[in-house]
Amino acid sequence: MTSDNDALLAELEPTAARLLERHLATSKEWFPHELVPWSMGQDFEPGYEWSPDTVPMSDEVRSALFVNLLTEDNLPYYFRTIERMFGADTAWGTWARRWTAEEGRHSIVIRDYLTVTRAIDPVQLERARMAQVECGEVPEPETPHDGFVYVALQELATRIAHHNTGKLLDDKAGYEVMKKVASDENRHHLFYRDLVTAALEVDPSAMVGAIERQVRTFEMPGTGILDFEVHAKAIAKAGIYDFSAHHDQILVPVVLRTWGIEDLEGLDAEAEQARAALLKRIERIGKAGRRFAARRDEDRQQQLASV
Ligand SMILES: [Fe+2]
Ligand SMILES: [Fe+2]
Repeated sequence: MTSDNDALLAELEPTAARLLERHLATSKEWFPHELVPWSMGQDFEPGYEWSPDTVPMSDEVRSALFVNLLTEDNLPYYFRTIERMFGADTAWGTWARRWTAEEGRHSIVIRDYLTVTRAIDPVQLERARMAQVECGEVPEPETPHDGFVYVALQELATRIAHHNTGKLLDDKAGYEVMKKVASDENRHHLFYRDLVTAALEVDPSAMVGAIERQVRTFEMPGTGILDFEVHAKAIAKAGIYDFSAHHDQILVPVVLRTWGIEDLEGLDAEAEQARAALLKRIERIGKAGRRFAARRDEDRQQQLASV
């Protein structure tokens, strides 16, 4: 790690401590076991074969549940990246460990819910978890600047995906599970979002470069999952996470409004170029999102008309 990176982390440590304190003050303890509808559960007979008719649900929603859970299962590697990037000491380390403990309950509650309700084939899910964790693939941002931006975007993207998945479940318990997990993700997002705001004051040019890179290369968490592309398409088709959500709920409110990219002053020449490219990209993503959503609405109407 270069001394620039060390200097940024040292300079932002008091901010991290303050945001951690805010996070803890606004956290409310919750228990996965209280959200799982255990009375729906029964033993799995030996050789049990799951079929999609067990719990009727669209393929898209099933894809979303599958990807959401496998992403949570990959926590060991996210922890490794975050600890490596921010360090294990001071407020940075305290945050990384607290965050890990909170993330851990996400896979606990979603898996318990899916196992009890049988909404997903437990054999396929376990095999996919083994494959995913054995492969251990997660994005590895090169600098803490990139890391702050990536996690700020990713936590919000995850929040949106969890919440939208919950809304499409025909089941109150499932909705409550996903809503609770989404509310944790939102508080994680707020920590990182405000860290980026502080970092923009310390080193605006480097941060604008990082924001441009991270928006350009952003992918929903889930890379490394078997058939991720197929699932990602299904998730977009259902409107759980697509270009317009990315544009309207992340890029505009966070990158443009909260971080105020258009109004930053004192950028060096390279950062000015990065800002221009970033603004163009955000506009293009917005257009693509609108086109995609219009096509999806047309398809839906045609489907309804043909029923
Ligand atoms: Fe999570
Ligand atoms: Fe999170």
